[in-house]
Amino acid sequence: MSGPEKAAAIAARKRSGQPISILTAYDYPTARLFDETGIDALLVGDSLGMVVLGYPDTTHVTLDHMIHHVAAVARAKPRALIIGDLPIGSYPDPSTALANAHKLVAAGAEAVKLEGGLRQAEKVRAIVKAGIPVCGHLGMLPQRVLEEGGYKKKGRTPEQCSALLDGARALVDAGVFAIVLESIIPESAKDLTAQIPVPTIGIGCGEDTCDGEVAVSTDLLGSYPWFVPPFAKPEADLASQIRNAAAAYQARVQNQNADRRA
Ligand code: KIV
Repeated sequence: MSGPEKAAAIAARKRSGQPISILTAYDYPTARLFDETGIDALLVGDSLGMVVLGYPDTTHVTLDHMIHHVAAVARAKPRALIIGDLPIGSYPDPSTALANAHKLVAAGAEAVKLEGGLRQAEKVRAIVKAGIPVCGHLGMLPQRVLEEGGYKKKGRTPEQCSALLDGARALVDAGVFAIVLESIIPESAKDLTAQIPVPTIGIGCGEDTCDGEVAVSTDLLGSYPWFVPPFAKPEADLASQIRNAAAAYQARVQNQNADRRA
C-alpha cells in the first residue's frame, strides 16, 4: 500500500470503530519489532529530542535530526504508516512547510504531522494538495512548551473547548487524515472526538475518549526512567534490564585475566 492508501485506511477506521494504535519509533530495530506486532502507524516524533537526543524539550529538534531518524525507521520497510514530525520552525508558511514535508518524504516518511489548528490550516492544505497525508496535533503542543510555561492540560474551559473545535474543523477542512489530541481532559477529548469526522488519536486524554492512542515508546518500554508522564502505562522495565545486562558485562570483563594481575 502507498502512504496515501495507508493514511486513508486509518481515516476509514472512524467509521468502522476499530481503534487505531500508534507508537513512536526513532530507529531501525525498534521500527522492525513494533511493525511485527501489527501496529497501525509508527510516529517518528520530535519527542526524540528528549528521549533519544537528551535535550530538555522538543524545541531543540531540527529538520536534519528528523530526516536522520525518519530514514532509519524507513529502512525497516514497515507495513505500518511512517509519520514524520515537522519540527519547530520548519513550517512557518505554506511553501516552506511543503518544501520541508517533501524532505521528510524523501527520507522515507509516508505522512507528516504538525502542531496547531487554525494557524496551520493553509500549511496543511498545501501539503495535502501535493499528495502528502497530514496528521494534525491539538491540545498541549510540546513545541510551544516554553511560551506556555510547562505541560498543561487543555479543554478545561468552554473557551478552550471551542478553540479546540474551531482548530479541529479547520484542520479537517484542510484535509488531515487524523488528529492527535494531547493532554486534553477526558470529557473534552470525548466531545471533540464525537464532533469531527476524522479519527482522533489520544495521548494523556484518558481511556476510551479517542478513536485511537499514540504512546511514546520509551514510556511503554520503561527505557527512559528519568521522566515518566503520569498517564504512561509501562508494559516493560527495560531500564532495569539494560542496567543489569551492563553490570553483568562489566563484572564478567573485570573478572578476566586474573592470572595476569599482580
Ligand atoms: O513527538 C511525539 O512523540 C508526539 C507524540 C507525543 C504524539 O508528537
